[in-house]
Amino acid sequence: MDAPSKEFALAGTLEELKIKGQLIVHGGHRPILVIYDRGRVFALDNRCPHMGFPLERGSVEDGILTCHWHHARFDLESGCTFDLWADDVPICPVEVRNGDVWVKTTFTHADLAAHWHQRLANGLAHDLGLVIAKAMHGQLVAGVPQAEVVREVALFGAQNRDGWGVGLTILTALANILPVLPEEEAYLALFHGARRVAADCAGEAPRRERAPLGSRPDPAALKRWLRRWTNVRHREAAERTLLTAIAAGFSPAELADALFAAETERAFADTGHSLDFINKAFECLDLVGWQHAAALLPTVVGQMVAARGAEESTAWRQPVDLVALCEESTSELADLFAAGRGSRDWSGHAALAQELLGDDPARIVDALKEAIRAGAAPADLGQSLAYAAALRVARFGNANEHADWETAHHVFTYANAVHQMLTRIGTANIDTHVTAVRGVLHGAMALYLARYLNVPPARIPGDGGEQLDDLPADPETIGAALLDAFDRQRQVDLAARLVARHLTLGHSPQALIATLAHAVLREDAGFHAYQMLEAGVRQFGAWGDTDEGRHILIAVARYLAAHSPTERASLQTADIARRLMRGGELHQEAGSS
Ligand code: FES
Repeated sequence: MDAPSKEFALAGTLEELKIKGQLIVHGGHRPILVIYDRGRVFALDNRCPHMGFPLERGSVEDGILTCHWHHARFDLESGCTFDLWADDVPICPVEVRNGDVWVKTTFTHADLAAHWHQRLANGLAHDLGLVIAKAMHGQLVAGVPQAEVVREVALFGAQNRDGWGVGLTILTALANILPVLPEEEAYLALFHGARRVAADCAGEAPRRERAPLGSRPDPAALKRWLRRWTNVRHREAAERTLLTAIAAGFSPAELADALFAAETERAFADTGHSLDFINKAFECLDLVGWQHAAALLPTVVGQMVAARGAEESTAWRQPVDLVALCEESTSELADLFAAGRGSRDWSGHAALAQELLGDDPARIVDALKEAIRAGAAPADLGQSLAYAAALRVARFGNANEHADWETAHHVFTYANAVHQMLTRIGTANIDTHVTAVRGVLHGAMALYLARYLNVPPARIPGDGGEQLDDLPADPETIGAALLDAFDRQRQVDLAARLVARHLTLGHSPQALIATLAHAVLREDAGFHAYQMLEAGVRQFGAWGDTDEGRHILIAVARYLAAHSPTERASLQTADIARRLMRGGELHQEAGSS
């Protein structure tokens, strides 16, 4: 009889296998363990799917294979695990011919993309980091588009938790920067996003479906109602109103306008997180497709209506009533925009940002009003605000408490969200959009309240033609030094100087951004680090490779340096998954000893 095809390898004779109980097949493929048990022959990947320990060192009893590294147990016949955290062992076909045992050396599935899609669903459902990492790697290798992976994870997150959470924010933030990431980093970014979504959903009640109203009220009424329900914290009513707007075919700009108006009924709600989440939900829909608006967008409503506004805090009421100041100004916005409508090409963004950093709230508001009168569009104001907030971080004094970084961070990410939302809303119908500018006023007041973080201010390196010649000059060495700085605690100023050095020498901003992204993706980063990175990349995109752009990336680097290093446990999980998927022998030495 002919030998099996070239895909099969000879393991040994059946007699030899019966005597030894097991054989190992090595070669240019992953090592295969062949086991004889109660009259049957089985073949499976010799590397434990958990961390690669050689399964030949495990034991078989009653059809159950146990790995003695962390004691994961597997059904010998199917390879399926009894311990979900360990994942299933890939098995391979085995044939006994003329007393010889042949095993197929390739582990494959008829539809790889479908297989890894299902594995990702399992990993997400059970919050299994290793399974998520393998499935992410498997999907990318199978050629599944990144946007499709993001869609799968985003819809899982929207359906399996009663409200938008940090996981979906992280997923969206990282998905936004995928275009600037190398392939390896894209895998890490998607893994981090998915694992944080899974963690958010673990143990949570799934979301309950709600339906739009049977009628189709006009857009103005729906916008009014959304504000009304937000004011009285009526979540069900607000969700049905939003679903009705979606069902009525509101454009993304109209939906943004309606939600922004409702959100800014409260000032700087939930220290800016509520608005940031709303903006991220819009960005998520840009990534996964607006046909999913009804599934994703209402998830932000719960937090929006429940959020605590800054108007409830003493700092916003005394010694100056900042909320009243904002309200007075809001009533003037329509006239101001009308006055500025004739002016075009307003370009005072950087100058306005400096005025926003002042220490007199009335003058800050006057500066905003003057800019509107001079022709600044809402998005222009948002851009100035975001840059000013970045400067708060870039000049954050090292004498502050560590927790104060978050105060500066909150204003910056809020300001970035305001800028993005106002850009989305646009100027097509400015008369109805003036309510949205309240977000700028609130952000300006939050920025004002954080002024103490710059007393004394940290110096921004690279300004005024500073050369920084004590630092390396070539981009690779600067990048390595930057990562080295992030490897040590409290290297905030060194990180800032290296960023300035890179940019003032005219090196590629994209390479620098990739280094900053790598610095975040190798860490067990906190939620804010992802937000800071993505908001910084967004704002750099708005300002370009200018002094202002440099200040923004310095802000990002300083924040990241203050929050690095961490344990990097997730990176280890991702690395194990990647090596297992590539067929490496992770514990070769242990196996051969
Ligand atoms: S259980 Fe096998 S390596 Fe952990």
